[in-house]
Amino acid sequence: MILVSTDPEVAKLIAAESKRQQEVLEMIPSENYASAAVREAIGSVLTNKYSEGYPHKRYYQGNTYIDAIEDIAIDRAKKLFGVPHANVQPYSGSPANAAVYFAILAPGDTIMGLALSAGGHLTHGHPAITFSGKYFHSVQYDVDADGWLNMEEISQLSRKTKPKMIVVGTTAYPRIFDWKHWKVIADEAGALLLADISHIAGLVVGGVHPSPVQYADIVMTTTHKTLRGPRGALLMVTESGLKKDPKMAEKIDKAVFPGIQGGPHDNVTAAIAIALKEADSQSFRAYAKQIVANAKVLAKSLTDQGLKLTTGGTDNHLMVIDLRPQGLSGNVVAEALEVAGIVVNKNSVPHDPNPPFYPSGIRLGTPAVTTRGMKEPEMQQIGQWISQVINIVKDNHLPGDKETRNAFFVDFRKKIIKNKELLTIAANVQALCRHFPVP
Ligand SMILES: Cc1ncc(COP(=O)(O)O)c(C=O)c1O
Repeated sequence: MILVSTDPEVAKLIAAESKRQQEVLEMIPSENYASAAVREAIGSVLTNKYSEGYPHKRYYQGNTYIDAIEDIAIDRAKKLFGVPHANVQPYSGSPANAAVYFAILAPGDTIMGLALSAGGHLTHGHPAITFSGKYFHSVQYDVDADGWLNMEEISQLSRKTKPKMIVVGTTAYPRIFDWKHWKVIADEAGALLLADISHIAGLVVGGVHPSPVQYADIVMTTTHKTLRGPRGALLMVTESGLKKDPKMAEKIDKAVFPGIQGGPHDNVTAAIAIALKEADSQSFRAYAKQIVANAKVLAKSLTDQGLKLTTGGTDNHLMVIDLRPQGLSGNVVAEALEVAGIVVNKNSVPHDPNPPFYPSGIRLGTPAVTTRGMKEPEMQQIGQWISQVINIVKDNHLPGDKETRNAFFVDFRKKIIKNKELLTIAANVQALCRHFPVP
């Protein structure tokens, strides 16, 4: 209300974004709708405070209530994940991973993570352009041609390269992690095991994906994906980690602050506490179960219509459509889907012959639509719409050379925003969305 008069320009854009979120099917698997309570905390007076340090050991006065809030967030994280130590201050997932490396490793030490092109994250050692690939010696493992992690090959690679840390976690892997097997691989190499459960944390606490806590030494998760919290992260040290190094928790805390961060975002800390409370409930466990049930129905709907998914399906909240059989670019399909009101992201497929900016797949997931209350019948319908959209653009093949490609997109975008079939799907999507309001 106040914003409309103080800054109508920004207020208008926020209102437009809010309308967009209501009217489209948000299917980017790393996105979700945070609850109104979480958003209230993010916008609260806590944003005014500085509180460098940790609860009861601050560099600034006036932190009585902030200390109490951070204590609650820490206790809830420890209880929900079943860990002896939690740090709730990382600004987000990337700095949290950085803090782990800086806490435990020396520059040049070997880390082993999944390649970005295979569904890993930039911070898992992507070479040359990230801190994780520049300051550490990075060894990257891959998935097989169908998209599965080949544990035997990974085991051989780690025995050969002897990493100091193995990072397990992905952004586009539709299957379950066998944490016990990962521990065997890490132990054989003498490596510490970092479980980056950013994507699946909500599934883990909801009981529909095995927890890494018994096997990993450190667990990192962002709080804004399946967990439905604010943008932030948790860094947790397990019993196993503390057994290997009793000072590990202290090292991690020091690496977060003062190592790489300054003052914590206290408004976010409160919002994390609230999200953790919300996640510790029967209704959240039912929600997590529905995310996976929805993903399975959506995957089946897509494969029934002849589309190819990496690994052939899903066991979690996401799936990747491999568009190579159609000879289509992920860009073309993602842009056409957006016109139809279905928001996904282009994504590389295993061993993609095309560059990451023009990859051969799209990635989609069910966390956000499940938050709106959508269930199996809606997933069936969405699968049909996606397949129709792919069919509508089936003759739009991306040219190989850069110049023609730019001209192709100008023309393609002009065409799709007027395409009657896409606009009809968009109208049907909007009608569906009206029955499932954003919380
Ligand atoms: C597995 C994984 N790790 C780390 C991150 C980084 O999180 P952020 O974008 O909050 O820095 C992401 C986010 O995409 C992720 O999926």
